Amino acid sequence: MKALVLEGVEKLEIEDIKAQDLKPNEVLINTAYAGICGTDHALYAGLPGSADAVPPIVLGHENSGVVAEVGSEVTDLKPGDRVSVDPNIYCGQCEYCLTDRPELCNNLSAVGVTRNGGLEQQFTAPASVVYQVPDNVSLKAAATVEPISCAVHGIKLLKLTPYQKALVIGDGFMGQLFAQILQAYGVHQVDLAGRNEAKLANNKENFGVTNTFNTETDKIPADYDVVIEAVGLPQTQEQAIEATKKGAQVLMFGVGKPTQKFSMNTYEVFQKQLTIQGSFINPYSFKDSLAMLSSGKLNVEDLISHVLTLEEVEDFLTGKITNVSKAVVKVGDQD
Ligand SMILES: NC(=O)c1ccc[n+]([C@@H]2O[C@H](COP(=O)([O-])OP(=O)(O)OC[C@H]3O[C@@H](n4cnc5c(N)ncnc54)[C@H](O)[C@@H]3O)[C@@H](O)[C@H]2O)c1
Ligand SMILES: [Zn+2]
Ligand SMILES: [Zn+2]
Repeated sequence: MKALVLEGVEKLEIEDIKAQDLKPNEVLINTAYAGICGTDHALYAGLPGSADAVPPIVLGHENSGVVAEVGSEVTDLKPGDRVSVDPNIYCGQCEYCLTDRPELCNNLSAVGVTRNGGLEQQFTAPASVVYQVPDNVSLKAAATVEPISCAVHGIKLLKLTPYQKALVIGDGFMGQLFAQILQAYGVHQVDLAGRNEAKLANNKENFGVTNTFNTETDKIPADYDVVIEAVGLPQTQEQAIEATKKGAQVLMFGVGKPTQKFSMNTYEVFQKQLTIQGSFINPYSFKDSLAMLSSGKLNVEDLISHVLTLEEVEDFLTGKITNVSKAVVKVGDQD
């Protein structure tokens, strides 16, 4: 079958490879769509994602498809089921798995990172990470459930209540998702700060955002109960702390460079009694993400700007394809 194989640093090749053998607890999936994101940029450049990718490997950790075959121990899935796959596989044995924090697993493995992912016509995954997709959710949208679930995990780490006023910093795919998800979780006012005037205006007009700010030219008031940083730069991390009011919670969601630091007034942390929360990947959030898509509380289709072919993925990763809001790769012919 046709696969896009990472053969080494910045080396991708279309190859004809054999499907993986199916283990008793696994599902074989005909890939429909595979989303690509910043993690794939890192893996392509030879840097780790949630774990190290060792070539040769097929990337693609944001996958949807249709079940082709199930192993002998699989109970709740059958051929023909439309599915979305959580790439992260936890060991179930380490200190973190045994204390209800599997995302911090010491032995994390992942579809599209440590084992072959969705940038090929068929891939396998343990049934425990394969979720059925409601009939009214497209397989294109279902390929974005992984990033949606990262946002949902971050949201679940906060204490949210309707009276709060929230600010999202970052007008990329994740920031725009957060703006909608916070509303779905009942927060009564969500404001968005970014650099792209068209995206800011669109979120105000069509996605329920109340006020928008340009992070480079506007002064953001210190008026928020919840601030989500979804850029990962020192200046936006500083802005996130500065936008808090007393008792606020800050979610540091954006990923900076491993050596990056930002400066923070620690007196402010004391005096405002701030909570600063990190967020890593997306355990047990797929059901919530799929429910929000199915109920119409979350519109992701309008945030997907590019549908690529396997042949175009390298042009995306090398920056030849520009103005990408969110890209998914159409791998199979199911919709
Ligand atoms: N914690 C997690 O589990 C997790 C999961 C997914 C993504 N992320 C991180 O979230 C961040 C956002 O991801 P994304 O997919 O939206 O990325 P993206 O590349 O689509 O968007 C980044 C956005 O930041 C905006 N931006 C850049 N500089 C800015 C500034 N100074 N002020 C305001 N906005 C600015 C850009 O306009 C762009 O829209 C990244 O750092 C990514 O690595 C974290
Ligand atoms: Zn991703
Ligand atoms: Zn573990």
